[in-house]
Amino acid sequence: MDATLIRTINKLQDAFSTVGVHNPVDLPQIVVIGSQSSGKSSVLENIVGRDFLPRGSGIVTRRPLVLQLINRPNPNASNEEGDKDKNVVDNKKDAVDEKKEPEEWGEFLHQPGVKYTDFNLIREEIIRDTEAKTGKNAGISPLPINLRIYSPHVLTLTLVDLPGLTRLPVGDQPKDIEKQIRDMIIKYITKPNSIILAVTAANVDLANSDGLRLARDVDPEGARTIGVLTKVDLMDPGTDVVDILAGRIIPLRLGYVPVVNRGQRDIDTKKSISRSLDSERSFFENHQAYKSKAQYCGTPYLARKLNMILMHHIRNTLPEIKAKIQASLAKYLAELATLGDGTMEGAGQANIVLNIITEFCTEFRTIIDGNSTDLSTS
Ligand code: GDP
Ligand code: NA
Ligand code: MG
Repeated sequence: MDATLIRTINKLQDAFSTVGVHNPVDLPQIVVIGSQSSGKSSVLENIVGRDFLPRGSGIVTRRPLVLQLINRPNPNASNEEGDKDKNVVDNKKDAVDEKKEPEEWGEFLHQPGVKYTDFNLIREEIIRDTEAKTGKNAGISPLPINLRIYSPHVLTLTLVDLPGLTRLPVGDQPKDIEKQIRDMIIKYITKPNSIILAVTAANVDLANSDGLRLARDVDPEGARTIGVLTKVDLMDPGTDVVDILAGRIIPLRLGYVPVVNRGQRDIDTKKSISRSLDSERSFFENHQAYKSKAQYCGTPYLARKLNMILMHHIRNTLPEIKAKIQASLAKYLAELATLGDGTMEGAGQANIVLNIITEFCTEFRTIIDGNSTDLSTS
């Protein structure tokens, strides 16, 4: 039931992207914001458990990345789904046994059916498609890249990675790049159904957090903002984030989660994510200030918390989403009626949208009527 909910939202997200509208009915999603270098990519990679995001200085994320994580049991342990990989990209290890399905893979919406089992190639494709749509190093674009990752090691979750907040344009970036990024972020986080993941480095003053400041503009009560404190390992000795966690500095209803990601040296020396997660755990378990609350610290706790918040949020917003989709369905039906048999092209397009929306309405109805009585009142 729970995973079905998020998966249905994912399908809607894809369907709307395919017809060229991004999130018209304000689908629930977790939006990651924060200053450049605050650790957003590191947090995302730790949640996924794989290295797959472009790295470097400057504005690396130049288009929104809609990252849909899908928990999928290891297919080789229980082989229920019969779809064979027709189109596996550089499937080095698995190529030995062609019938064996990959355990984890990524798939882009713009390359349907192409399974990426080599996560380095996912990174390359993100870079390639970013450059194809925005140019080599200049601007940003609101056009999202949709990527799904299927894995038995992730919790079903949808995250949107946005360009980091920056102050000064570099190279041939447009002069108003800061404003462009800010506007793009605001567009995403203003939507009441988005949950804001505000990433802030713990070694800078919380009051100066760009992410939290922006979140507060659209969510003044702190009702749908989660704080993530990175670089806790880089704090001055004798200082800690205990007061922040306790809500004594800038309170957020959904709270804060402190994490420790890989430092630049760890990345240079290719420290694996699994080793990094081990170090993170032992950091919190052995630290004087955190050991009594270590179960509420670190990336695995953050992932569980996000999964629960998203699920809860989807459940609460489902009746409203259903109503909105039904309204657009009615609108498209009316449009289709007025088109008559005049413009075939327009009719064809409207028909595609109609089919997609009808399909999802049916799916919603199944979820709403079939599985959950508390939602059937809408
Ligand atoms: P982004 O620009 O917000 O995506 O930030 P990145 O994830 O690329 O991280 C920027 C830099 O900070 C990189 O050199 C990371 O290795 C480093 N970094 C991120 N999180 C942590 C952390 O928790 N501890 C330490 N020591 N370094 C971190
Ligand atoms: Na920040
Ligand atoms: Mg980044």
